[in-house]
Amino acid sequence: MEIIIHPNAEDAAEMAERIITNLIVTNPQAVLGLATGSTPLRLYQRLAAKGLDWSGITSFNLDEYLGIGAQHPQSYSAFMQENLFRHVNIGVKNIHLPDGMAVDPETHCQAYEEKIHAAGGIDLQLLGIGTDGHIGFNEPSSSLSSRTRIKTLTARTRRDNARFFGSEREVPYHVITMGIGTILESRTVLLLATGENKAEAVAGAVEGALTSMNPASALQLHRKAILCLDEAAASKLQRRDYYHWVFDNKPAWQRISPN
Ligand code: GLP
Repeated sequence: MEIIIHPNAEDAAEMAERIITNLIVTNPQAVLGLATGSTPLRLYQRLAAKGLDWSGITSFNLDEYLGIGAQHPQSYSAFMQENLFRHVNIGVKNIHLPDGMAVDPETHCQAYEEKIHAAGGIDLQLLGIGTDGHIGFNEPSSSLSSRTRIKTLTARTRRDNARFFGSEREVPYHVITMGIGTILESRTVLLLATGENKAEAVAGAVEGALTSMNPASALQLHRKAILCLDEAAASKLQRRDYYHWVFDNKPAWQRISPN
């Protein structure tokens, strides 16, 4: 794992933006895995302002609420339109999200996996992290080799996400999410975490045991997982000094070239 700790959330977003910009510029046909939540908002604003050519880019989002359609204002589809897609020239046919209104969700999940495969796999998967360590909507106890499927949200995640809905009652109980196994197949994983409320989940993911009780700890198995953190999200890491040391002493050839 590469742990990069930034003084604040804006700097963490800037680093994530540089990594994604670098990918889009060097591989204009790249396949991006995208995430929702409040954490990537700064990153999406930055990417939107960059004026990059997204015409060859394909995207697959991590997850969607089951039982609400793409037009619902709290759907992840609407979130992505509002915060990224309408600001860039990505082709409508190249955008993929699970369909929360799928008539046969299980077949739909299987088809989603097949589409990722047919696109050549995901070059870079962007992730946030839940306060309980979930990635996508893979709640604690998710199989570490899980594929895209239906999951039931925990009471904690429904509470955490109630702020996007009118009230907690409106938050769906079920979702479709890429599995942890699906996420681990991405060629690069980029996890962005900011704020004190993520510190415990981040510490468990990086320095805790590999366990389905902290789904993000599965990233310990990934060959190229980059974690962009702010100081608050990194505050419970024991080896914080070492991660700073590694970054400060990075050989020039390993650095991401600014675009
Ligand atoms: C949701 C999403 C996750 C996201 C998490 C954290 O549960 N399914 O992909 O990482 O929220 O969200 P936030 O960034 O708002 O804290």
